[in-house]
Amino acid sequence: MHDIQNVVILTGAGISAESGIATFRGPGGLWEGHRVEDVCTPQALIHDPELVHRFYDLRRAALADVVPNAAHEALARLDREWPGELLIVTQNVDDLHERAGATRMLHMHGELNSALCAACDARAEWRECLPPGSACAACGVDALRPDIVFFGEMPYRMEEIERAISRADLFVSIGTSGAVYPAAGFVQTARYHGAQALELNLEPSAGSVYFSEVRMGAAGVLVPEWVSEVLGS
Ligand code: APR
Repeated sequence: MHDIQNVVILTGAGISAESGIATFRGPGGLWEGHRVEDVCTPQALIHDPELVHRFYDLRRAALADVVPNAAHEALARLDREWPGELLIVTQNVDDLHERAGATRMLHMHGELNSALCAACDARAEWRECLPPGSACAACGVDALRPDIVFFGEMPYRMEEIERAISRADLFVSIGTSGAVYPAAGFVQTARYHGAQALELNLEPSAGSVYFSEVRMGAAGVLVPEWVSEVLGS
């Protein structure tokens, strides 16, 4: 690990599974009970705002019943102790990375605890239910929506992510199926720029072949093990 300085970590729903938050795909996944196009597209927000807002209200409320697990804690430790550059890019909209104490992180698919004004793009921290037609404190328009990147919308902070990946010596993907782009393509970008790539997942992801090393198992076990390894203790 002596030659590793800059690290980018991508996390997905699998890292929060052991905290009790449902993943999206597979048995019992969130998309088993809902059609993506009904709750997670700009069209759905127009056609049935009540349904879309309720879907995210329920998921926001569920955050009160969960806590970070050993994998979130381990990444927060890495964030505190890693002397080089580090960026944790999460596709998750829960707040478990930051509750564990991670700071060098960003949410590329938005956050449940945030509301976005469709009129002026202002954001507001949001912990309660968000009924359709809620007013934006910045511009006064009744246009607040969940601050979630819907299918067909551009993920957040892509330039920052691409820059970090292009500088990375090591790219690590944790608990993501590799089904959704652009995140699914980060491993190839990292490899293109010469980084090593490590996958930690319960099962091989769609892009497993692109990783230089793949470890299969639960994030709550694999991530603390890997963090101890890179920190040397
Ligand atoms: N430890 C490690 N990996 C796990 C665990 C666990 N305890 N439990 C499940 N996994 C793995 C699954 O094997 C699967 O590969 O986590 C992955 C979860 O995949 P998805 O449900 O597809 O979630 P994710 O990859 O985060 O989805 C990406 O899709 O619907 C959109 O915007 C949504 O951000 C989400 C994106």
